[in-house]
Amino acid sequence: MPVTYDLDGQKRAYATWAKFYDRIYQNMLARPQREAVEAACACGPDILEIGVGTGLTLSYFTPDSRVLGADLSLDMLKVAHRKVESQKLDHVHGLMVMDACRLGFGDERFDAVTAQFVITLVPNPEQALAEMDRVLKPGGEIIISSRLVDDGGLLAPFWSAVAPLSKAIGWSSDFKVSRLTEWAKATGRYETVHVGRGYFKVVRLRKHASADNAQSKA
Ligand SMILES: C[S@@+](CC[C@H](N)C(=O)[O-])C[C@H]1O[C@@H](n2cnc3c(N)ncnc32)[C@H](O)[C@@H]1O
Repeated sequence: MPVTYDLDGQKRAYATWAKFYDRIYQNMLARPQREAVEAACACGPDILEIGVGTGLTLSYFTPDSRVLGADLSLDMLKVAHRKVESQKLDHVHGLMVMDACRLGFGDERFDAVTAQFVITLVPNPEQALAEMDRVLKPGGEIIISSRLVDDGGLLAPFWSAVAPLSKAIGWSSDFKVSRLTEWAKATGRYETVHVGRGYFKVVRLRKHASADNAQSKA
């Protein structure tokens, strides 16, 4: 997975990856992707999938969901669009080119926002999280799946040490779980309800149902 921090570079990289992506990642990412989608569907029907890519996750959503997919790369979206057509994924209501840090939706539009294997690629993850927060309804969840490192885990220093090497071969190896959970805590409006285990993790951040609720938890 390319880790480049300029958006044009990202688009160029994924124009190439679009041709091979499914063959390499379909089986490798299926477990966390299914887990994230299941959690999103439990929140309600209106779901935004940021960095939807070639649409590997789209067939996992329930038929009664209403999914919008956004991605920086038109080339990846074209593959996703073919999937939606050929597999008749009628629950997918739209696919659009969009930057995670500038979402073109109104406030509190979605029951859940998922970002799978994309947060580590975004130049400013906190800005992307702020946008996810803006478009999420109270009571909804931001659901992230990615290669995330446990803070203080025995291997954390190892993953930090090999981070430059990982970037050279296209992986992010040192994005820590705490970057997400600390953001959630700092907002005063989110609770971390799940942090998965293993190499690929799902993290679920739940937005308090109302301002009153947030104050009572503060
Ligand atoms: C590793 S792929 C993951 C695709 C899909 N979510 C999956 O799980 O298979 C990362 C995707 O994120 C997209 N992406 C990277 N930076 C982005 C950004 N700033 N905003 C939106 N999408 C972005 C890329 O174009 C690519 O399609």
